[in-house]
Amino acid sequence: MSRLVVVSNRVSMPTERGARAGGLAVALAEAMTPGSLWFGWSGKRGATASDQAAVTTHGGLTYATLDLSESDYRRFYVGFSNGSLWPLLHYRTGLLDFKRDDYEGYLAVNDLFADRLVPLLRPDDTIWIHDYQLLTMADALRRRGVKNRIGFFLHIPFVPPAVLHVLPSAAVLVRALAAADLVGFQTHGDRMNFLESVASCMDVRPDANHGFTHNGHRTETIVAPIGIDADGFARTARRAAGMAETKRLIESLVGRALAIGVDRLDYTKGLPQRFDAFGQLLHRHPEHLRRISLLQIAARSREDVDRYQSLRRELDRKAGDINGAYSDFDWTPLRYMTRTVNRNTIAGFYRLARIALVTPLRDGMNLVAKEFIAAQNANDPGVLVLSRFAGAAEELTEALIVNPYDADAVADAMHAALVMPLEERVARHAALLTKVQRTTAASFCRDFLARLKAIEINA
Ligand code: ADP
Ligand code: F6P
Repeated sequence: MSRLVVVSNRVSMPTERGARAGGLAVALAEAMTPGSLWFGWSGKRGATASDQAAVTTHGGLTYATLDLSESDYRRFYVGFSNGSLWPLLHYRTGLLDFKRDDYEGYLAVNDLFADRLVPLLRPDDTIWIHDYQLLTMADALRRRGVKNRIGFFLHIPFVPPAVLHVLPSAAVLVRALAAADLVGFQTHGDRMNFLESVASCMDVRPDANHGFTHNGHRTETIVAPIGIDADGFARTARRAAGMAETKRLIESLVGRALAIGVDRLDYTKGLPQRFDAFGQLLHRHPEHLRRISLLQIAARSREDVDRYQSLRRELDRKAGDINGAYSDFDWTPLRYMTRTVNRNTIAGFYRLARIALVTPLRDGMNLVAKEFIAAQNANDPGVLVLSRFAGAAEELTEALIVNPYDADAVADAMHAALVMPLEERVARHAALLTKVQRTTAASFCRDFLARLKAIEINA
């Protein structure tokens, strides 16, 4: 049987302490099967990059990681990946901070990943590369003579050609992606945007099966939404009822309703807009004054990128404004924390919440939405308020779907959630749970890999 080699910028080592925030690491950790190899960045920076990957085994999995140099980190990770690609692919062209030198650093690190992976490869390995940090790695492997099956999955959105071409090097990236045998997306819209970009950058039209052939190489595409281990997460949430943190949270609420937000502290997550919407709820629906608290857990992320630092300052100020305007001596409406919280604890918090606010301005999928649904008590569930711009909204249509740019509409949805009859909450939750149980982390991997392995390659 062919071995699975997963490549991603972040590798979630089982020995790491504490929680890792981020959908990719969470989903892949749940889906790796024994015997697989997971290859990527160690998360460490040295004077120079590693000249070979450090290999360890744990629980039947092999991990191979490499350090990056400080300059690689600045140009590849801070610069091009998170200063150009991240805003671009989330439709935020105004935030693009393109520098030619960063772009060259990005290509060099993709080449470095390929150089360090090649010695570890076996001829029948199936290679699965993940996410926007590694758009050119399949091509880098091909240039080194790798003939294995290569799949690529993009965890974040893909934009239409008119947006894509804002990035000077867009056509190079699209052509490099076509070196994979299978390219996967979270939603149908993302795949359509990619195929339109292929037509625009490579002058190649897709066929009826959403694949295309260029210079004798065929690239297929697939829509494979990522999910979670819903049943496992539900068990974690039920068990969390007995945890000290859960009890402390219940005590602190003194019977008030809990609204919850759990996100990386990222400008795509719509946090300032969410705070504004919460302020609007208190302003426009004063019956909820003193009756609700919003707990926003925002894990600090990418702190070396300027825009993330300014976002943090903006949120500090907004949180202060809301609490200054509405707090009472024994009630703080907004509880705002900027750190990661243990996954088990979060599961228990979701289960206590009457509302989850998942209101990104743009998101590839959003696993928090799925975790919240899985964690609920089916007999008395909370209500999901979900942005129409999250990939999850394509499937989770029984949530209260909102436009996160419209603070009044989000406030009204929160109000609707707070007054929603039990019967309606139960019906919406049951429909959502069925979907979250159907599209799991395991089914995501199974569907993608089945399709990849079915592709004929000319080795
Ligand atoms: P992204 O991949 O953009 O970070 P997702 O919603 O898809 O967004 O995935 C986020 C994952 O990280 C979820 O599993 C969520 O529980 C976890 N997470 C997010 N914020 C925190 C936090 N503050 N503490 C711990 N885990 C977090
Ligand atoms: O898909 C979103 C993503 O970039 C993942 O690749 C990553 O695990 C997560 O966000 C966290 O970001 P970072 O790896 O930059 O800390």
